[in-house]
Amino acid sequence: MAAGKYKHLIKPLKIAEMPGMEQAFRNTGNADVNRWLNGRDHLEGVKLNFSWGFYTGLGDWHPGMDPHVHPYPECLVFVGLDPNRPEYLGAKIQYCLGKELEIHSFDRPSVISAPAGFYHCPSVTLDVTSPIGYSFFIISLGADPTTRWLGDGLTDEQIQEMKEAWASSGVKPPMNSSFGKKRVHVSEETVTHGHLYDDYIKPLIPNTITAGQLSSTEKSRYGEMFKNGRKPGPGLTENAVWMFGNDLRGIDVNFCWGIHTQPGIWMRGPGKGAHVHPVDEVLVFAGTEPSDIDYLGAEIQIDLGSEHERYIIDEPAAVVIPAGLAHNPIVTRWVDKPFGVLMMSLGARHETTHVD
Ligand SMILES: [Fe+2]
Ligand SMILES: [Fe+2]
Repeated sequence: MAAGKYKHLIKPLKIAEMPGMEQAFRNTGNADVNRWLNGRDHLEGVKLNFSWGFYTGLGDWHPGMDPHVHPYPECLVFVGLDPNRPEYLGAKIQYCLGKELEIHSFDRPSVISAPAGFYHCPSVTLDVTSPIGYSFFIISLGADPTTRWLGDGLTDEQIQEMKEAWASSGVKPPMNSSFGKKRVHVSEETVTHGHLYDDYIKPLIPNTITAGQLSSTEKSRYGEMFKNGRKPGPGLTENAVWMFGNDLRGIDVNFCWGIHTQPGIWMRGPGKGAHVHPVDEVLVFAGTEPSDIDYLGAEIQIDLGSEHERYIIDEPAAVVIPAGLAHNPIVTRWVDKPFGVLMMSLGARHETTHVD
């Protein structure tokens, strides 16, 4: 990557690697490997923490610890790894929602919206049918990851041991954990099977402007993005899904996910192609090779700043785009391996203003 004024905004995902500590949460259904970046340590203070990981295991993700809550809202996004089958997850997931511990399950790519303070989990992987597993990312709207665990499956001694292990490790915990005084017991007898929270889980069905005709209401959510003849270029994918705040229980976020397979510019149109947003945005380029989370297999260029400083992305990385910073165009130069693109924008709508 060339040195430049905005180089600090490009964050390789491996900066969040925690050598020797992967096992702390390596519980059955949880990630085989993941990278979890937060605003506090990695993302220039942006009010966001997000993860990207590969999953093949069965079972509870955090045995004994759930349900849990956060002081901020989060979206939990389950996606498949086949670029040509965007509606194939390759796993079956069971999820508990709300104080009622309402059980839900799904086997298609889906997003769960959890408002601040909302009980969620246990998350249990019931089945994995894809031979390469599936992926999952968290979009949490806090710079400083914070969780209050409410499950009654851990003894006070176990909790004490965890606290001491972190204290003696000499590193700042990636997650501020606390434990509820009143603990919740999850069992066949305490879970419920209602429909209070059906709307908190949404399937991810390709729906961006590349995928077909949008209604005028749908178009209005993109602001100026597609005005003045601007249109998708060959570098985008028809298999992307874009979810807005009103798809996500009003959470102040919109995100777009898709696996890209083709080189080319992402957006065609007049001018030089830079735009700005009134809110912070983080753009993640993620590899889709489960055996090597640090392999991207593609080369992408992105312009940052009104000067159009050009940067090259050739490893999994997040690009932090603070509110008001001009960015784009983006061009995928070549692709050896399909790669995932996750755009997270910290507003319910995607307000865009073209600048050149
Ligand atoms: Fe959570
Ligand atoms: Fe943007």
